[in-house]
Amino acid sequence: MSEKSFVAVAKLDDVPAGAKKVVETNGIEMILCNTKDQIFAVRNLCSHAHEALDCGRMKNGWIACPVHGARFNLETGAAMNPPATLPIETFEVRISGDTIEVAV
Ligand code: FES
Repeated sequence: MSEKSFVAVAKLDDVPAGAKKVVETNGIEMILCNTKDQIFAVRNLCSHAHEALDCGRMKNGWIACPVHGARFNLETGAAMNPPATLPIETFEVRISGDTIEVAV
């Protein structure tokens, strides 16, 4: 049995609109992304050639891989264009006061 639990990873002020921040929790490196008035959390790992995504362009709810340009939907993790076909891992986000929490 593995119940998901929420872990505090950053303050809301750390991730203003249009910004992203890399955090690590439970040995998982993830990117917090503030876009479309919402905070998303995804694993910092492209599903194509396993490169880091955090330097990629982010806009309108997606992030682009800086290596080959695949874009991913930050809410679902789904790949939006080649060369990636598989989704990236996403994490549930909860805002508690001024703190961003992520389910791991
Ligand atoms: S490593 Fe990300 S698209 Fe190729």
